Amino acid sequence: MAAAGLCFLATVSLYLLAPTSAFVEDLDETFKETRQDDIWLVDFYAPWCGHCKKLEPVWNEVGIEMRSSGSPVRVGKMDATVHSSIASEFGVRGFPTIKLLKGDMAYNYRGQRTKEDIVEFANRVAGPLIRQLPSQQMFEHVQKRHPVLFVYVGVESTLKEKFIEVASELIVYTYFFSASEDVLPEYVKLNEVPAILVFKDATYFVYDEYEDGDLSSWVNRERFEGYLHVDGFTLYELGDTGKLVAVAVIDDKNNSVEHTRLKSIVQEVSKSYRDLFHRDFQFGHMDGSEYINSLLMDEVQVPTIVVLNTSNQQYFLPSKKIESVEDMIQFINSILDGTADAQGGDGILQRIKRVAYDARSTVVSVFKSSPLLGCFLFGLPLGVISIMCYGICTADTDDGTEEMTRKDVIDPSHTDEGSDEEQDEDKMREHSSEVTDEDQEEKDIMEKKKD
Ligand SMILES: *[C@@H]1O[C@H](CO)[C@@H](O)[C@H](O)[C@H]1NC(C)=O
Ligand SMILES: *[C@@H]1O[C@H](CO)[C@@H](O)[C@H](O)[C@H]1NC(C)=O
Repeated sequence: MAAAGLCFLATVSLYLLAPTSAFVEDLDETFKETRQDDIWLVDFYAPWCGHCKKLEPVWNEVGIEMRSSGSPVRVGKMDATVHSSIASEFGVRGFPTIKLLKGDMAYNYRGQRTKEDIVEFANRVAGPLIRQLPSQQMFEHVQKRHPVLFVYVGVESTLKEKFIEVASELIVYTYFFSASEDVLPEYVKLNEVPAILVFKDATYFVYDEYEDGDLSSWVNRERFEGYLHVDGFTLYELGDTGKLVAVAVIDDKNNSVEHTRLKSIVQEVSKSYRDLFHRDFQFGHMDGSEYINSLLMDEVQVPTIVVLNTSNQQYFLPSKKIESVEDMIQFINSILDGTADAQGGDGILQRIKRVAYDARSTVVSVFKSSPLLGCFLFGLPLGVISIMCYGICTADTDDGTEEMTRKDVIDPSHTDEGSDEEQDEDKMREHSSEVTDEDQEEKDIMEKKKD
């Protein structure tokens, strides 16, 4: 007994003493040959990138968690600046890039960089594509854990082949199950089997090839609950559905009727008018206006309703106050029939406005967090540039000097690309630009790579 206790203590202390990175393997060129032997979860990083540094402790925890849960997934990291040829073979374009490598496939991770989310992703993608639900108990258990559930019902068929094909792509987003008809809850009535169902919003919907189009885009449309608590990240994920996002922008802590009413109006529309609008709209609410303001580059009056077109960055605001479900329906219809005025967009003017807006918020936040650094960062280059300009204006315009000055003027801005400043800027702009940054980095969500 005592020996067992000692042994336990020794194990625990060893565990505590071991450097946390012991569960994350440093990968190099040899990885190309060995990777096929195992399932790998890899962080491709660059030493100078701020987001990568922030991920590091999380990544160590992911390593510990995968090891202690007995998962077959091995966790590694690769300095993509040192092993750039491998990194580019894997299509690494931004940092950090997280991929799960399984056989010939490489699955990109695009979720939030938290331990829970990354571990969940790794277990989901590393596991079977289609999970069997052998009993009613199992079905109920799984339904409790997942707000959205895709289930294939029936024996082997071409529909099942399609389901497997779609699952092999979209497993990066959601789980896929298969069950026999008698395992399903009693309220499910199927006209024919085989069938594909999605369970969500306390009910279920059956995939109909003629009405819903191809299976992959149906799954992509249906993989969110009808009504969501929307934040910046969800908005970014919703971009892939191509839907318009209708959100009540409210203050969650404000219990006044105006706030709670708007929320329940949107909830009611999402539920009772699903058949009319769910193909084109995702519904939800957003807590606070900070994010939406930076997205719209405008100050919205909270509470309000905003409809965002995630495909072209346009948005719609109601022309009159929305006080009932009918008002909301009217507003939605005016957007659908094109009578509502679209604002914003991704045109050239908007892009210029965005650059100016981001620059302004960066400057403001630098000065807010550290006025001295602000003076240094922005004052110094400005000073240098003004001296240059003075130099240019007063200099004789012979070729030699112009070459020189042009080169010198470019130089100060060149330091912008230096590591430290970029990181800081990264941090400061994080909030406002998370979406656009990610968007550019990893446009192709689940790009698969075949060796
Ligand atoms: C709640 O919202 C109302 C209306 O927008 C506003 O007048 C009120 O000051 C808010 N209350 C709190 C506690 O923020
Ligand atoms: C949303 O943007 C897409 C892409 O530009 C466009 O085709 C669609 O008509 C827009 N939807 C609305 C309601 O404006």
